[in-house]
Amino acid sequence: MTTGPVGVAVVGAGAISDAYLRNLTTFPDVRVLGVADLDAERAETKARAYDVPVSGDVDTILAIPDVEIVVNLTIPAAHAAVASAALRAGKHVYGEKPLTLDPGEGDKLLAEAAAQGLRVGNAPDTFLGAGLQSAKRALASGLIGAPVAATAMMQSPGPESWHPSPEFLFQRGAGPLFDMGPYYLTALVAMLGPVSKVAATARQARPHRVIGSGPRGGTSFAVEVPTHVMALVDFTGGASASTTFSFDSPAGVTMIEIIGTEGTLSLPDPNTFRGPLRVRAAGDGDWRELPLEGTTIGRGLGVLDMARALRGDVAHRASGALALHVLEAMTAISESAERGEFRHLETTAREPEPLPAGWDPQEATLA
Ligand SMILES: NC(=O)c1ccc[n+]([C@@H]2O[C@H](COP(=O)([O-])OP(=O)(O)OC[C@H]3O[C@@H](n4cnc5c(N)ncnc54)[C@H](O)[C@@H]3O)[C@@H](O)[C@H]2O)c1
Repeated sequence: MTTGPVGVAVVGAGAISDAYLRNLTTFPDVRVLGVADLDAERAETKARAYDVPVSGDVDTILAIPDVEIVVNLTIPAAHAAVASAALRAGKHVYGEKPLTLDPGEGDKLLAEAAAQGLRVGNAPDTFLGAGLQSAKRALASGLIGAPVAATAMMQSPGPESWHPSPEFLFQRGAGPLFDMGPYYLTALVAMLGPVSKVAATARQARPHRVIGSGPRGGTSFAVEVPTHVMALVDFTGGASASTTFSFDSPAGVTMIEIIGTEGTLSLPDPNTFRGPLRVRAAGDGDWRELPLEGTTIGRGLGVLDMARALRGDVAHRASGALALHVLEAMTAISESAERGEFRHLETTAREPEPLPAGWDPQEATLA
């Protein structure tokens, strides 16, 4: 059995790769051995910036024998093909969200991995951060009693103002539902358990957007998906949520609140690893901020948890099964908006185990 730090390689050296490379290169339990991209120069620049020994195309990094986990940071349309190539090369794979473009592709990917005894992990891993871990502990302690309902809302003007190649964010696999929904729905599943059924409606404010930054700034492109989605979500445990995902509002709103029989818990922005986490019980004149316990380091925690779980032969938390369930929920929301009917889910997911107290990304635990 292999021991020691786990070798990883990153595929996709775009906007989000810095957040991963910055963190993964500081975790003693992980060694970043390669960076790949369709654009070889981009891969080389990132490899040099983070002192990663190898860069090149996907085949180059898949050929590195010590790479055990491929971290797939490509655009959603490429997630399935890149992940599948990694599995065929005998590597575990951890991908960015969404898992794949649709649940059928995701199902196939998990089946391929299972057939080879390999793991699939997937973002988001924000629920491993101090904010959402502390929220989970607060719920488990009974602080707000039994959860009854939740409200989740993400409204923004959309990412085309700051992302230099934002087209994919307005195509199949993205839009506010598939791009931002994973943070909110994964957080809700981590808190309330699996989704049973959904009903939704959706709109699109305008058919074209304009790139606001980078070398292609000023270029107009087509919007191919709804940009304002509202969904009712029922959980098998009995709670219900009302959710909104929008790229159509100039005013930014981020909220998740869980109403329980004894009070309301206000969760932090689930696209972050920090607080604030607040509670308000019946009779309280104001919100009370709760102390946080855990790490706020950021993206890459899910990869680290998967690396440690691999060595310890235990389940990892940001799992492919969880991502598939969230993908099915988003797909069902999208179908419900098209057809005007409730959609029932077929998949389920376990609420991920809380991280143990004192879980420290910067501690070397793998001898
Ligand atoms: N940008 C963000 O803030 C952000 C945040 C969280 C998650 N994400 C997710 O991360 C992923 C990547 O987003 P991004 O913003 O970094 O995109 P990006 O377009 O900036 O970068 C993607 C990179 O992947 C490369 N690529 C595409 N297909 C490939 C293939 N088949 N083989 C090798 N390389 C390939 C592209 O050349 C590009 O360099 C998406 O799934 C997105 O949802 C992005």
